[in-house]
Amino acid sequence: MVRTYLSSALLFLGLLFALPGAAQAQILNGKELYRNNCRVCHDTGSPHGRYAPMTLTQDQWRTFFKVKLVPLHKNAVHPKAGCKLLELLTPEQMKAIQRFAIDHAADSEQPATCG
Ligand code: HEC
Repeated sequence: MVRTYLSSALLFLGLLFALPGAAQAQILNGKELYRNNCRVCHDTGSPHGRYAPMTLTQDQWRTFFKVKLVPLHKNAVHPKAGCKLLELLTPEQMKAIQRFAIDHAADSEQPATCG
């Protein structure tokens, strides 16, 4: 009896520590974030242009995030969420997307065709 009690208490504690970590990893998964927040507007045939990580080189992505992202997207409304893209994503999430794009750019070791 005491034993069951103890192990469920341990399990509970374990979950308590494991869950926020998992949620955090999910939130900061650049590939998922790119798919859900960028590809929604930049898939094949999109009027806004098709952009995947390997569309640009690492330098072009760096420049994009530094100087183009905000002016080009300040009015962008996420098609599914219905709110402004730049207000939807936290700076950490945007960093994760940037990292994913640069890590899989045209001149990276693992270019990625789709987000
Ligand atoms: C609501 C739709 C929408 C979403 C979501 C969106 N974009 Fe865009 N994006 C645009 C529009 C509109 C432009 C301007 C296209 C034009 O000039 O015709 C653009 C332009 C771009 C360009 C081209 C820049 C250049 O050099 O001209 C890139 C690269 C880009 N977006 C990347 C992204 C990334 C990365 C994300 C996710 C963080 C994203 N976009 C999310 C609509 C969107």
